[in-house]
Amino acid sequence: MASVKQALQWALEEINESDSGQLDAELLLGEIIGKSRAWIYTWPESALGEHEHQLFQQLVMRRKSGEPVAHLIGKQEFWSLELKVTGDTLIPRPETETLVEQALKLIPTDKSWRVADLGTGTGAIAIAIASERPDCTIIATDQSRAALSVAEENSSNHQLNNIEYRDGSWFLPLEKEKFNIILSNPPYIAMEDPHLEQGDLRYEPNSALASGKEGMDDIRYLINHAANFLHKDGILMIEHGYDQGEKARELLQQQSFSSVTTTHDISGHERVSYGFLT
Ligand SMILES: C[S@@+](CC[C@H](N)C(=O)[O-])C[C@H]1O[C@@H](n2cnc3c(N)ncnc32)[C@H](O)[C@@H]1O
Repeated sequence: MASVKQALQWALEEINESDSGQLDAELLLGEIIGKSRAWIYTWPESALGEHEHQLFQQLVMRRKSGEPVAHLIGKQEFWSLELKVTGDTLIPRPETETLVEQALKLIPTDKSWRVADLGTGTGAIAIAIASERPDCTIIATDQSRAALSVAEENSSNHQLNNIEYRDGSWFLPLEKEKFNIILSNPPYIAMEDPHLEQGDLRYEPNSALASGKEGMDDIRYLINHAANFLHKDGILMIEHGYDQGEKARELLQQQSFSSVTTTHDISGHERVSYGFLT
């Protein structure tokens, strides 16, 4: 019978090419035995049941062939919240926490702002904001019904009732409403980018990732049309690629947004740009 430690050692030899091999193996094992990573560190000599060991080996081999850990365990942590993830949704990324953090600096704690999250996927942004600002109303949209049903399940798992989900392309589901802040992490990878054929991206929906020749089509569309849906001084905040900050600022300025600013992510890359409607 293999111990926790032996099983992890074997897994690391199999998936040691991945930067996150150790973490991946611990997450997979933790999921199978229903224990936390802290438990795994504390009880390395515990014996695994034969079935558990076999299941673990199968998941490690699937990880080795490239499947994302979030798909193998069906969940991902975002803003310290556990979110269900499926093949129909983008796996929420740590970079997107930069957008949440910046948005929370601007959304007052004592006002009931109307917030839009366009292209909500698992609901990551909407759910993080809703949990931090219970008096705000969040309208979260996506053109993927399958993604919206995952987002709805995530909201209900976190007992949030200040998010309304709507289906449709970008601003269509907003009708004639105005918002205090519009947030979006749209697809922003160039269609021909070879990364789309590598790593986790192969397993995520292309419609959540790619956006035209330079990856700017959706960002441009959102910036060009947001003004109709914002109150005066309303904010548009968009996540973008590390090399798209300059272009995003230029587009915001062309559309009469003022005090245009870009925030860097934890790796120091330009990641989120925003401005105030004048
Ligand atoms: C990069 S993912 C972001 C998902 C989620 N907001 C997050 O940060 O994890 C982009 C999302 O936009 C959605 N999307 C793509 N095109 C869209 C469109 N025209 N209208 C609405 N949503 C769209 C995709 O289905 C996907 O869920």
